[in-house]
Amino acid sequence: MSDVVLSVKDLKKHYEVRGVFSKIGSVKALDGVSFDLKAGETLAVVGESGCGKSTLAKALMNIERRTSGEYKLLGRDADKMDGTEFRKTIQMIFQDPYSSINPRKKAWQIVAEPLFVNTNFSRSECRKKATEAMEKVGLRPELADRFPHMFSGGQRQRIGVARALVLNPKILICDEPVSALDVSVQAQVLNLLMDLQDQLGLSYIFISHDLSVVKHISDRTLVMYLGKIAELGGREEIFEKTKHPYTKALLASTPNVQSGKLQRTRPLEGELPSPLNPPSGCAFHLRCPLGNERCKKEVPELRLLDNRFVSCHHPD
Ligand SMILES: Nc1ncnc2c1ncn2[C@@H]1O[C@H](COP(=O)(O)OP(=O)(O)OP(=O)(O)O)[C@@H](O)[C@H]1O
Ligand SMILES: [Mg+2]
Repeated sequence: MSDVVLSVKDLKKHYEVRGVFSKIGSVKALDGVSFDLKAGETLAVVGESGCGKSTLAKALMNIERRTSGEYKLLGRDADKMDGTEFRKTIQMIFQDPYSSINPRKKAWQIVAEPLFVNTNFSRSECRKKATEAMEKVGLRPELADRFPHMFSGGQRQRIGVARALVLNPKILICDEPVSALDVSVQAQVLNLLMDLQDQLGLSYIFISHDLSVVKHISDRTLVMYLGKIAELGGREEIFEKTKHPYTKALLASTPNVQSGKLQRTRPLEGELPSPLNPPSGCAFHLRCPLGNERCKKEVPELRLLDNRFVSCHHPD
């Protein structure tokens, strides 16, 4: 038995974009992404707005239909799992705890929703399991009959976490799980997620634009640029022995994670190019201090170098 709980190979998600009369083109939101997620690990996914992070989350959750690629969960083809089996394996926590929960339902009913849909438990059994899940995330049983508007933002996100856990999944996808919360409660929710991971042996795909959070909680980090992997490696490789110029520029744009070595790196300049019409060769070459003729022409392969994967013609 391998300890890989999720793996994708050459995953693609292309959105067809239509004009009034005809097809304009396709947005390659994910364009050939391959990685493994191991049991009990936190894999962070970072990159600028629009690079494809949420698309990855939606493709992995079957919220969006994948264009192509292989997707395995617990060693099995995800396409061959039935809906219930799938939802008992992988669940998601959303960014916005205000819009992702139904305001007309009581807390326990929101948490119990996956049980109503995927199990044959009676209503009272569902209530009991939902209340237990609420306790796991630090919500007392007497809160079970309250409505969402009676909870704070942090508590509402805890309801979202309890709902994601109620079917005892192995994997959680967290898409910016704390960025809609007050800074003062972000740490509480992050600590809760880390405690739950230890207690329950969960694996996380943790999407975030906050590299200081990612440095703190991730085992490995996947850096995305325009739907492709720029660099993928452990904390030391990504944050200290950085190789990809894009990763360096991202880090240089985040004041509180800069290491001494990065201080002379220029922060990111310019905007992310449109994925509808990406640059030739290496998609980063126009913004890269090392970009040259080769970068303009040749797409760099993702290759293993000094213990991390990197796609660059002249890394460090
Ligand atoms: N339904 C859609 N139709 C067409 N294009 C889409 C659709 N959804 C997303 N896109 C495009 O796909 C690209 C990736 O979007 P995505 O939401 O995955 O980015 P992101 O990395 O999550 O950004 P953010 O950090 O802002 O959340 C963007 O260019 C976006 O405009
Ligand atoms: Mg997003």
